[in-house]
Amino acid sequence: MKVLVLGSGGREHALAWKLAQSPLVSDLFVGPGNPGTSSLTLTNGKQVQNVALVTNDFQSVENVLLQYAIDMLVVGPEEPLVMGITDFCKNREGLENLLVIGPDSRGASLEGSKDHAKAFMTACRIPTALYRTFTCGQYAEACLYLDSLEPPYVLKADGLAAGKGVLIEPDLVKARAGLKEMMEGKFGAAGNKVVVEQFLRGTEVSVFILTDGTHYKILPEAKDYKRIGERDQGPNTGGMGAVSPVPFADRSFMKKVEERIIRPTLEGLARKGCDYRGFLFFGLINCNGDPYVIEYNVRMGDPETESVMMRLQGDLAAACYSLKTKTLDKMSLSAAENHCVTVVAVSGGYPGTYQKGYAIKGLDQVKEANVFHMGTSTTPQIVTKGGRVLAVSATGPTLLSARELAYRELSLIAYTDMVYRNDIGEDLMDMKYS
Ligand code: AMP
Ligand code: GLY
Repeated sequence: MKVLVLGSGGREHALAWKLAQSPLVSDLFVGPGNPGTSSLTLTNGKQVQNVALVTNDFQSVENVLLQYAIDMLVVGPEEPLVMGITDFCKNREGLENLLVIGPDSRGASLEGSKDHAKAFMTACRIPTALYRTFTCGQYAEACLYLDSLEPPYVLKADGLAAGKGVLIEPDLVKARAGLKEMMEGKFGAAGNKVVVEQFLRGTEVSVFILTDGTHYKILPEAKDYKRIGERDQGPNTGGMGAVSPVPFADRSFMKKVEERIIRPTLEGLARKGCDYRGFLFFGLINCNGDPYVIEYNVRMGDPETESVMMRLQGDLAAACYSLKTKTLDKMSLSAAENHCVTVVAVSGGYPGTYQKGYAIKGLDQVKEANVFHMGTSTTPQIVTKGGRVLAVSATGPTLLSARELAYRELSLIAYTDMVYRNDIGEDLMDMKYS
């Protein structure tokens, strides 16, 4: 089977790393990929190849699909899904047999429109924060609704805003100001509608499934660390680290997640005639033992994928390919008994402005962890290219051992202005493991 993974970050590196372990994969391409993806080797000894394309330019994707006679396209990021890459590939000449792992644009609107996701959850009686949606002309009505809520206040731009479209404001004055900014176009068209919702207190957990529209497999869950600073201080980032498993996501919590969230979501999609085939990511919050949905993402998370893939047991390529015949129930995917800690190293200044092009030293010293590339390039030596640069993922029999190993291996790597959080997983250390 010839597979193309679409994207260029740590998530795509981790997906390619796992897919490359399948004997079913004869050729693996990553477009555009990164220096990490092109260093992977398949079970048949072939090298994984990076191919030039632009993820949001479907014509360039189609050219690669046709040129290499790709059988399965695994879409990493949300943008091409929301823009309709799956719909684009359907019934296209020469692509009749292509399987796309990722929903069509209707399914992808669970992530592409927060208003749509909230309305869907309400209709399916899926636990989520109380909310109301306002258009840009409804500033006064939105302020009245804010008055009826308790602080802090949660404001969400309806559309995709590169993970920056959520404001959490401590008081009414700041909430009104944030609302005004959103309605005046701070996030462009993404803010044409604004969701105002109740703040939920609890600990977050990311739950992932792979589904063929009928059956589903739960992948290892993970916790993401979103803020730049230790103890969750400072601005939000794409994610500074991830840990899997998450102690409170025990059997009884996950049973609630399946009964109250996963199954009603898949049933709701099916009722709407949406044939969802791909990954689905439930951003959940644990409120006193009960799961609530904060958001849906129609793809895997980054850096969660780096931890999830390290613990996933089974043939991911076979499982993905079974989505074609809706036979995912015949596949076996499970979570290893171990723990994984992923620490992300970023460029100093991120998530604000930062310099790039710094040489990364010590990569060849890392022997006991995986280094997934997030924002690097080859010049020919490997240099920093993005805000998030590398994700170092290590496993161990306990959270403590995985954590120690991840930090020890990360300390072998160095580049100018390297920044990372020292507290990934620390908050989970004193939580009891079952
Ligand atoms: P989102 O982009 O929807 O994932 O939101 C970004 C982050 O804002 C989430 O990961 C949460 O930490 C926080 N957040 C979003 N909605 C809520 C809510 N209703 N209550 C508490 N925190 C929230
Ligand atoms: N790590 C969160 C995300 O991928 O959206």
